[in-house]
Amino acid sequence: MVEKYKFTDDLLTGNNEIDSEHKYLFKLINTAVDDDEKNEIPKTVLLKKILKGLDNYATNHFVHEEEYMQEIDDPELSLQKKEHMAFINYIEEECEIEITEENAAERLKTIIAFGAKWLYYHIMGSDNMIGAFRKSDIEDNGEPFRFKNEYVIGITFIDDGNIQLFELLRKIDSLIDTKNEQDTFDDVMKLFTELLGSANTLFTAKEGYMERIEYAGLEEQHKAHQSFLKKISRIDIERINDDRKEYMKEFVLYIANWLGIHILKEDKQIPKE
Ligand SMILES: [Fe+2]
Ligand SMILES: [Fe+2]
Repeated sequence: MVEKYKFTDDLLTGNNEIDSEHKYLFKLINTAVDDDEKNEIPKTVLLKKILKGLDNYATNHFVHEEEYMQEIDDPELSLQKKEHMAFINYIEEECEIEITEENAAERLKTIIAFGAKWLYYHIMGSDNMIGAFRKSDIEDNGEPFRFKNEYVIGITFIDDGNIQLFELLRKIDSLIDTKNEQDTFDDVMKLFTELLGSANTLFTAKEGYMERIEYAGLEEQHKAHQSFLKKISRIDIERINDDRKEYMKEFVLYIANWLGIHILKEDKQIPKE
């Protein structure tokens, strides 16, 4: 079977149960794509199968994931709950519609597209961040924003770009420290915009390089980059107004840890020219 969607190491959360459930979902979607293309099994059967699989997944997996996030006090829990609820509602609605010969083929395509989008946006964009804020994932000796020796991959422009991102994160973090309750965080937000710009520039250059050397991991890298950019651009404004200092500190640490993990697990595999 040709795997259309690949589960890569940077998606591992470190919780075995959650990771194997995510892998199961990749398999479910890949199998559905494959079966649909082969055209050997009736679409009504395939539709029934994928709906049952997704319903099962939603019932079991989200509970596990939310419990784990609660346990490790993950700041993304409320956001995750919202996204999970949207998934549950959609699948419940679909399960209530009768499966007929007339509607099966088209609905199957729609559900597969929904599942694929979920892999792309939710697992690669949100679930991959679970636990990423935990300091214990990377030995930082109390310096989470330092560009560590182990981050050097030996491709100069990538190393320089990553150094710059860590430097910006460190700047943001120390700027947050100077704030008190009444301050606005406009200057912090400005630095986040700068971070977004720098990350964008680096990622474009990195992807150009990977394309040139015909690197097989380009697609996965591209997805990881997209989720990183999405992450930064969706700072939770409501929480900024609430306990913003604490939230911002958490957020910037989160981004730094994520970047560290990305470098160690993904960037390190990019071959030198
Ligand atoms: Fe999730
Ligand atoms: Fe998940």
